[in-house]
Amino acid sequence: MCGIVGALAQRNVNEILLEGLRRLEYRGYDSAGVCLLDSDGQLQLRKSEGKVADLEARLAASPASGRLGIAHTRWATHGAPSDRNSHPHVSGDFALVHNGIIENHQSLREELKARGYQFISDTDTEVVVHLIHSLADEGHDLLSAVTAATERLDGAYALGVISAREPNNLVCARSGSPLVIGVGIEENFIASDPMALRQVTDRFIFLEEGDVAEVTAAGIAVRDRNGEEVSRPVHKLDGGHDAADKGRYRHYMQKEIFEQPAVVAATMAGRIGNETVLPEALGARANEILPEVKQVQIVACGTSYHAGLVARYWLEDWAGIPCSVEVASEIRYRKTAVRPGTLFVTISQSGETADTLAALRQAKELGYLASMTICNVPNSSLVRESELSLMTEAGPEIGVASTKAFTTQLVALQLFCIALAKVNGLPKDREAELVRSLHQLPELMEAFTGLDKTVQDTSEAFAEKHHALFLGRGVEYPIALEGALKLKEISYIHAEAYPAGELKHGPLALVDADMPVVVVAPNDELLEKLKSNLQEVRARGGELFVFASPKAGFTSEPGITVVEVPDAPESLHPILYTVPLQLLSYHVALLKGTDVDQPRNLAKSVTVE
Ligand code: G6P
Repeated sequence: MCGIVGALAQRNVNEILLEGLRRLEYRGYDSAGVCLLDSDGQLQLRKSEGKVADLEARLAASPASGRLGIAHTRWATHGAPSDRNSHPHVSGDFALVHNGIIENHQSLREELKARGYQFISDTDTEVVVHLIHSLADEGHDLLSAVTAATERLDGAYALGVISAREPNNLVCARSGSPLVIGVGIEENFIASDPMALRQVTDRFIFLEEGDVAEVTAAGIAVRDRNGEEVSRPVHKLDGGHDAADKGRYRHYMQKEIFEQPAVVAATMAGRIGNETVLPEALGARANEILPEVKQVQIVACGTSYHAGLVARYWLEDWAGIPCSVEVASEIRYRKTAVRPGTLFVTISQSGETADTLAALRQAKELGYLASMTICNVPNSSLVRESELSLMTEAGPEIGVASTKAFTTQLVALQLFCIALAKVNGLPKDREAELVRSLHQLPELMEAFTGLDKTVQDTSEAFAEKHHALFLGRGVEYPIALEGALKLKEISYIHAEAYPAGELKHGPLALVDADMPVVVVAPNDELLEKLKSNLQEVRARGGELFVFASPKAGFTSEPGITVVEVPDAPESLHPILYTVPLQLLSYHVALLKGTDVDQPRNLAKSVTVE
């Protein structure tokens, strides 16, 4: 999704801006641009459709430098990807970058056109720069022009604005899209994600909704939505320096799959004892709130939604607590009936997903008991706006297709479910059994990543296919959903997931020799039922790829490829069986030659609706 970088320093900021854009590449984008104010007071604009490398080539052919500049990676919403539609947008002496969507752009465009402003792009963004220009011409300085402009905008925005009229100012604003200020020594920066600035600073101010800030080399002045000057805390961020480094791996996704044994361990660290989930695992506030919980509503998008679906099985089984799970873009637009005592739980890797955040804000008006987020990014909007937060310790995830964030979400959710089950009478020996299993998880995860070569061999059967079906039963059904999502995200093969018992209600009509059927088949109480479902597939000539432990009793034969996985405790099955499915999609994508880390049309952090 779109990314913003801006800088004001005593040195040429061109390379800082480009490095910032490179660090944001993982978010997904289709064009990039930069605007620098040069030493002659001229705005130097360079833009290019395609990758940051294409922009760099343009800059090499036509160099630009300056101490003040803004830069952007664009993910098209209004107007196709093109040089013309990419940011920054310029109006006279003003240049601007924008993340988000301006909903009233059409009426503003008409108004500004009538006043003689000429539009050269199809974007919603361009109205904002003309609006700021018109306000400045009415006598506003840059800060007050941006402030007055934001008062006229409906929708979501993070803005970075510079002007040739004020060479020592960088003005930024946020509402609905994230923006941070990176604090340096006699130089300051802005970005949509702190990751973009980790090469220049580890100190950040997180702007709040409605804030407008004036950034100079000497200082930062933030005004809140009422125009009052406010002091926002400076946070020092640790770690994350090497996130942009693939190390010995070919892709970030591959690196992130193999990091899973370590990050699941990090997510449990300090939260479990030998046989118990520690009382401090979820924090003091949680210990007050959990006994009041009568029901749980989980809300998330994409892969995080699948983690929520898994948690529902655990919650209802172990805690006897009813649980609903819904995608954020749906729940936010329907009338919901909230039972007293319902805990509202969001799950998000980024903590910035627009629909999830909107659903949380709406939930606050709807009488939920409290809100909790399971999130991977400290200080993200969801963390700041939720009453409770349980952090996953996946570290920065760069690959657009989520892998380690998902398995760490499952670990955090398992801790949450056990904690809630404890206050609802979970027997001590059952808790001990679950926690002892969790202790085995990192080692088992290592063993599952060890399936890499076997899965690679299996992947060859998929490379020429156009469709695939994923089946699971019970708690493995969401894992089948996640496996199908991974395959479609990065290899562009159409993949569907079904609970195996639903086969004969429709999908069986699709099964033939060209439809590989992937089966998640751990040795659990539904195994025999699953086996009958698989007979239905074989009877129609469908080719089965079964991920199962030796105890499940499958053998490879013509039409059935069994990928044997290590035996493991049942409570860990969903976490562990995810791994070979991740590897499968990765290897199929390699064979197809697709862009594994930045699949077409997708974004890592979806900060617009
Ligand atoms: C995008 C990403 C997915 C992610 C989803 C939700 O679609 O490409 O990988 O699962 O957003 O993101 P979140 O950050 O809220 O988990």
